[in-house]
Amino acid sequence: MSLRVAILLSGGGSNMVALVDSMTGTHPARACLVLANDPAAGGLAKAKARGVPTAVVDHRPFGPDRASFEAELTCVLETHAPDIICLAGFMRVLTPAFVTRWQGRMLNIHPSLLPKYPGLHTHARALAAGDAEAGCSVHEVTAELDGGPILGQARVPVLADDTPDSLAARVLVQEHRLYPMVLRRFADGDRGRLDI
Ligand code: GRF
Repeated sequence: MSLRVAILLSGGGSNMVALVDSMTGTHPARACLVLANDPAAGGLAKAKARGVPTAVVDHRPFGPDRASFEAELTCVLETHAPDIICLAGFMRVLTPAFVTRWQGRMLNIHPSLLPKYPGLHTHARALAAGDAEAGCSVHEVTAELDGGPILGQARVPVLADDTPDSLAARVLVQEHRLYPMVLRRFADGDRGRLDI
């Protein structure tokens, strides 16, 4: 039986599409749910078009009450019984209690070469630092923001005329390669690090 993968997102969902489209044939996993914290997230329609069940837990009615928001997230997730959770552009910080509930089964993609530039504005920070290369990382999610064990990284050159947008676009192409490769290895039980 296939492993069940839930994908959490907040936006357009291009990484989600790359993940869902990779889970075919002999792949050990299949997408069981795409869950958004924003009913306007563009990724929801893309998931539906692929026949993946979708759900929304809007964070806004919960205000600053993260515990209640996450209790609802957990409730929806448990209904779909995922073996693995992939955060894919999910723009809510998760509390240690939620992370601990799913630790060892939850992955995230981050658009920097961690441990450099956790948090936001990664591409602008790489440019401001004068870095010669940038990239993306897939890591296990732990209570430390963008700080869990790194499962894979992909690198791109920084070009002389790069803007944060042009660099983000070049990195995103690599995100779409890296995340499916790491997910497949993870689903096969391989926690080793992949550098591409
Ligand atoms: C990606 O760059 C991801 O690394 C970051 O948010 C972006 C999401 O893009 N955390 P998409 O929704 O997958 O297109």
